[in-house]
Amino acid sequence: MELSKGPVLVTGGAGFIGCVLASKLVESGARVVVVDVLHPQVHASSGRPPRLNDEVELLPVDVTATSEWDAVLKLVRPSHVVHLAAETGTGQSLLEASRHGRVNVVGTTEMLDALMRAGIVPDHIVLSSSRAVYGEGEWVTPGGAAFYPGPRTHAALEGAQWDPIGPDGGVASPRPSAAHRTSPHPTSIYGATKLAQEHILSAWCAATGTRLSTLRFQNVYGPGQSPTNAYTGVVTFFATSARRGGRLNVYEDGRILRDFVYVEDVVDSILAALARPPERARVVDIGSGTTVSIHDVARTIAAAFDAPEPAVSGQFRDGDVRAAITDIEAAAKELAYQPKWTLQQGIATLVSSMTEDQ
Ligand SMILES: NC(=O)c1ccc[n+]([C@@H]2O[C@H](COP(=O)([O-])OP(=O)(O)OC[C@H]3O[C@@H](n4cnc5c(N)ncnc54)[C@H](O)[C@@H]3O)[C@@H](O)[C@H]2O)c1
Repeated sequence: MELSKGPVLVTGGAGFIGCVLASKLVESGARVVVVDVLHPQVHASSGRPPRLNDEVELLPVDVTATSEWDAVLKLVRPSHVVHLAAETGTGQSLLEASRHGRVNVVGTTEMLDALMRAGIVPDHIVLSSSRAVYGEGEWVTPGGAAFYPGPRTHAALEGAQWDPIGPDGGVASPRPSAAHRTSPHPTSIYGATKLAQEHILSAWCAATGTRLSTLRFQNVYGPGQSPTNAYTGVVTFFATSARRGGRLNVYEDGRILRDFVYVEDVVDSILAALARPPERARVVDIGSGTTVSIHDVARTIAAAFDAPEPAVSGQFRDGDVRAAITDIEAAAKELAYQPKWTLQQGIATLVSSMTEDQ
């Protein structure tokens, strides 16, 4: 990997994805500097996370703080930046919109302003964006007409109208999202802030000649995801409840569709993006490329812990999308990305890591 020119700065690098990435970067010989505020919602204790590789330099800095950025860039002149720091609660973002806007949007602009003040133009920035930018994404009627349903209303969900209705009034099915053909229509504040990050970085990188890789991750899971953060990571949330013997509560009719991608595969996509920089800018979808219902995931996790059969409750959360599935063809072509982990393997590894922690 061509990272020998200078340090790699990883914002949010003490988090779930960041710790796995930082270790792999260190193994590849890079100097890794992490900027992370160690947010209490994510980190059970305020100390250095044990999962963070010992060779990583950790700077406990808030990305929204102007003066803290200036101090960081006096210590490091990064040639590569991986921007992971974010507030990540999709449902929570509806209740705490300013908090999500401040960290995800202003945190990004503060980083760019600080780079400007320090006269630093990195070679390449990698942004961890999200499938949340697509919202409900594109759906197709049985007759083949494509449409964007937009957000499901509270009234529709209350009436158990789970699937979007097509323009002909009939039942439609979701089409896997792909950056080259699916327009973003976020239905959560979180998704809107991730799309804002994309636009801000796109404008700044074009103007400064910085290469930009925007990776839109599907639902990431695996060992190390915060078990104390109730707002993210349904697989970890289910596994934590099932381990205690609880009956899992499956929302809607259980047929919410997702693409769950194992954290190692996601980190491999970031490393592949760093190793194969684009000419200018690119946006790439990263997932497992497979679709699963939430009910099936709940059943698999419950069985692994010998917990009771999950209950489909008909409850719902405003802002949740019905389907988030993706096409990884572009990632295969652009990054030679090939996910290695099946959902069964990933869940088995997560389950055994949680059993070891007992
Ligand atoms: N995990 C997923 O399913 C998923 C899916 C799509 C996109 N993403 C994106 O990937 C990135 C990393 O997600 P993750 O799952 O590792 O989340 P995480 O919450 O485990 O990690 C985020 C890190 O950012 C830090 N942080 C939060 N606010 C900060 C601030 N103001 N200043 C500095 N650091 C701050 C937190 O302390 C945490 O360590 C995020 O940008 C997220 O939007 C994640």
